[in-house]
Amino acid sequence: MAVKEGNWQEYPYPEEAMAYFDLKGVWQAMEECQKQGLTKFIGVSNFSSKKLQNLLSFATIPPSVNQIELNPTWQQKKLREYCQKEGIIVTAYSPLGSVGTLWGSNGVMDNELLKQIGEAHGKSVAQVSLRWLYELGVTTAVKSYNKERMKQNIEIFDWSLTKDDYKKIDEIKQKSMFSNGPSKLTETLWDEEN
Ligand SMILES: NC(=O)c1ccc[n+]([C@@H]2O[C@H](COP(=O)([O-])OP(=O)(O)OC[C@H]3O[C@@H](n4cnc5c(N)ncnc54)[C@H](OP(=O)(O)O)[C@@H]3O)[C@@H](O)[C@H]2O)c1
Repeated sequence: MAVKEGNWQEYPYPEEAMAYFDLKGVWQAMEECQKQGLTKFIGVSNFSSKKLQNLLSFATIPPSVNQIELNPTWQQKKLREYCQKEGIIVTAYSPLGSVGTLWGSNGVMDNELLKQIGEAHGKSVAQVSLRWLYELGVTTAVKSYNKERMKQNIEIFDWSLTKDDYKKIDEIKQKSMFSNGPSKLTETLWDEEN
């Protein structure tokens, strides 16, 4: 499922802005780009295990990466395990819940359990979430336009989460930030795998 061109500015996307697309045709064209040396690697985004399984059934070049919504409030355990089994790198987008965007929420940044963990380590909620992702072994696409916050977001390598922290993170209620979107999107996006 894709969002039609020119419909990104409005969220939730109107139902009529959602469209199916020719995955096989698109992937074959992407494989051709790699074969011609126009790109080193090709990958996907927002693919559930079910969608990856379908892609792998006809791909001659498997995707090198799957960029997915991933943070302590949407942990995607099953999908991460599937990607690991298939040798597909996971990149976490919305690591801080895309706070401040049309589609994002305060769900990560205002989470009480993450705040408690942060207080215990003298770290911010953002750092707790980014450290958790780092310890999962995934790559992360975090965004900030602020120099201080950019600096904060890379200060995650000299401390670690404890077993108790993991217990707390396991308790966090799971919710995709797209769960309030148009039904055509929410019903098909993660294929009810989380
Ligand atoms: N493939 C997809 O479908 C998809 C979907 C969504 C996003 N993405 C990509 O994923 C990347 C990140 O996504 P995102 O920007 O939506 O989400 P995000 O990184 O989870 O959140 C960014 C927001 O958090 C704030 N922030 C950053 N560091 C912070 C900190 N230390 N403390 C407090 N607030 C902080 C930023 O504000 P300031 O800038 O003011 O610091 C910004 O408002 C982007 O490259 C985006 O294009 C991909």
